[in-house]
Amino acid sequence: MATASPTDPSRHGVGIGLRWEFIDDLLERIAVGRISKKDIPFFEFAPENYLRRGGFIPEALDRVGEHFPLVSHGLHLSLGSVAPFPSEYMRDLRAILAHVAAPWHSDHLCFSGVDGRSLHDLLPLPQTDGAVLHVARRIREARERLERPMAIENISWYLRAGAPELDEPDFIANVLEEADCGLLLDVNNVYVNSLNHGFDAREWLERIDVTRIWQLHVAGHEWRASEGLIIDTHGQDVSDPVYELLRSTVARTGPVAVVLERDSNIGDLDTLLAERRQLQAAYDAGIAVYEAAHAVERARA
Ligand SMILES: [Fe+2]
Repeated sequence: MATASPTDPSRHGVGIGLRWEFIDDLLERIAVGRISKKDIPFFEFAPENYLRRGGFIPEALDRVGEHFPLVSHGLHLSLGSVAPFPSEYMRDLRAILAHVAAPWHSDHLCFSGVDGRSLHDLLPLPQTDGAVLHVARRIREARERLERPMAIENISWYLRAGAPELDEPDFIANVLEEADCGLLLDVNNVYVNSLNHGFDAREWLERIDVTRIWQLHVAGHEWRASEGLIIDTHGQDVSDPVYELLRSTVARTGPVAVVLERDSNIGDLDTLLAERRQLQAAYDAGIAVYEAAHAVERARA
């Protein structure tokens, strides 16, 4: 199967992260033809949930992949770490990405392990020139070993890793340039960080080079009074300000893959599909702005 490019239109619009909580329902609907690409353009899956597992688990992914395009989004590369990538993990990850013909693979701009142990958290990198060179080298190595284009995701973070030499948009821009990779722009993470750290999310987003954006994430968050922070829980509905940021971002990017991430309080598939439709309406409103602006540009040319 040919590998699709990051601009492949079969992954445009609003997809959903594939989760165990609704997989039985989804497979039943697929079996009787009660769900199709008209209801949802594509799914995003986490390859780590399918590696080294037999029987129903890989078969379920294959069944979904027969009916819907897939994009992969990983959890365990720990791109900012200093320890070498584990060979077996890289080999298995490369195989599953080839198996599903993933157009690209994404993981987080962070570190999540030390000395071979997983910390089960996404921790921020120091925003320094040295960290740019280090993580860019690791992204290029991952791309070569996985034989797949790579995109990095901006994380939500709750502490600073030392005094920054660069602010976050410059840090991300330099990594994208140095690694020559794509950006999975998590709009909710930018919004959560803007509330916790006091900056303007829209200004932050406008500093990102849209030609690097291959995919967007949206999700819900919640206020935790006990911690005095907004936490990126992926357990609530997407908030109105994040809808607005989705609309304004898509007005700049044009057609792009967007994924609704829901990891707790998942509810049933119909509820998720209803939220997806609302997000698709915001996406379509953004595309209308993008197309109107480009029509004006074309008329001037
Ligand atoms: Fe995300």
